[in-house]
Amino acid sequence: HTPDRHAIRGSYVTFCANPFTTPDALVLEEDGLIIMEHGRITQCGPYATLSPLLGDNTPLTHYPDCLISAGFIDAHVHYPQISAIASWGEQLLPWLEQYIFPTEAEFADVDVARRTARLFLSELLRNGTTTAAVYCTVHPQSVDAFFEESARLGTRMIAGKVLMDRNCPPNLQDTAQSGYDQSAALIARWHGRDRQLYAVTPRFAITSTPEQLELAGTLFQHTPGLYMQTHLAENLDEIAAVRSLFPNRSSYLDVYAKAGLDGPRAIFGHAIHMAEHDFAHCHHSGCTLAHCPTSNLFLGSGAFALFDALKPTRPVHVALGTDVGAGTSLSLLATMGEAYKVSLMAGNTRLSAAQALWLATAGAARALHLHDHIGLIAPGMEADLCVMDPAATPLMAQRSARCTSLAERLFTLMVLGDDRAIRATWANGRLVHARAQTQADAAVH
Ligand code: GUN
Ligand code: FE
Repeated sequence: HTPDRHAIRGSYVTFCANPFTTPDALVLEEDGLIIMEHGRITQCGPYATLSPLLGDNTPLTHYPDCLISAGFIDAHVHYPQISAIASWGEQLLPWLEQYIFPTEAEFADVDVARRTARLFLSELLRNGTTTAAVYCTVHPQSVDAFFEESARLGTRMIAGKVLMDRNCPPNLQDTAQSGYDQSAALIARWHGRDRQLYAVTPRFAITSTPEQLELAGTLFQHTPGLYMQTHLAENLDEIAAVRSLFPNRSSYLDVYAKAGLDGPRAIFGHAIHMAEHDFAHCHHSGCTLAHCPTSNLFLGSGAFALFDALKPTRPVHVALGTDVGAGTSLSLLATMGEAYKVSLMAGNTRLSAAQALWLATAGAARALHLHDHIGLIAPGMEADLCVMDPAATPLMAQRSARCTSLAERLFTLMVLGDDRAIRATWANGRLVHARAQTQADAAVH
């Protein structure tokens, strides 16, 4: 048969519009067929219509009773921090000092980096995540280790070396010049190779000198398609420290903007404590905000004002981030569930299941300017798929049996689901994760 051609049959969901602005934006194909070749979706639609295209020699995988989505996109996560997840008792700045810096220091050893990158990427796939914007550590080898594993798997990843030239332990410090040189070398090696994309990654304003931010801005502005990722307005003590380090800047965001670290493909994690003029600046310059609900709850940072950010008169691009190790789960399903709860805490607009799924797939792709490549199930898109099982656990089976609509089924998945609800993950047209069925599962099915 044709090499690299495969088809999947099952119910699938995708979008025909933005569910924040258009009702009925979510599209369900009840008995669908998705045909993939050389890493792309070539055809998709009703099984009854498309099945003649299969011929005799296209391998077909059937997922009855599942719900298939485009692969999930995590817009903010730290791979070195998976070993420090669930560290007790501190808010942002002491949490970084006590738990995170010592953990990241271990990545001076490239074997630690390789082992952790392998574990992290396999965990992403177990959770249905096929694209992520990932912080490595200050060590350039931590980036090589990560991209090598992602290239091997065929996943589309955005990642970069953390830049830190002050206010951190000496063994984690670079300089404005060494950080620039190392980033430039990594960009030359990885940016645009296979499906890998580079992000210039100043950790945050506290740990970079103005000189380092300036050089990061130069790199970001002068390399086509490059990303920039950093943290913004997460915690009140952090904001006070930034104010005293940069007394001449009009806001935290202005520190980055003055260095050229804003614009399309600039991804800011958290953005909890934002003034109206900050949101307006993000809208006009085309920045993206990563909403990290489990992290913001875990560190007691605050509630992101999602519907303020999305205000229809000046909508800002928003995507979801797990922010592990401050985040408590790599599951975008769990993160959607927490984003729903936070939407209730932050105001009286309730996030719908369709909107949550949009933020984890097509909306994230749009926010990351990757919507020509990923985020939808449609011909021409890269074949990254996530197969969800609404009856993955006895409890989910019980609840899902009572669902009468697609929105209800999705909501059940995001409130109760996690890695157990991901039956399979496909990346670049290939099966990269299939969940082993336990005896308890088998008894239910
Ligand atoms: N701000 C600066 N560094 C970090 C980090 O590693 N995690 C979080 N949540 N916030 C940060
Ligand atoms: Fe973070």
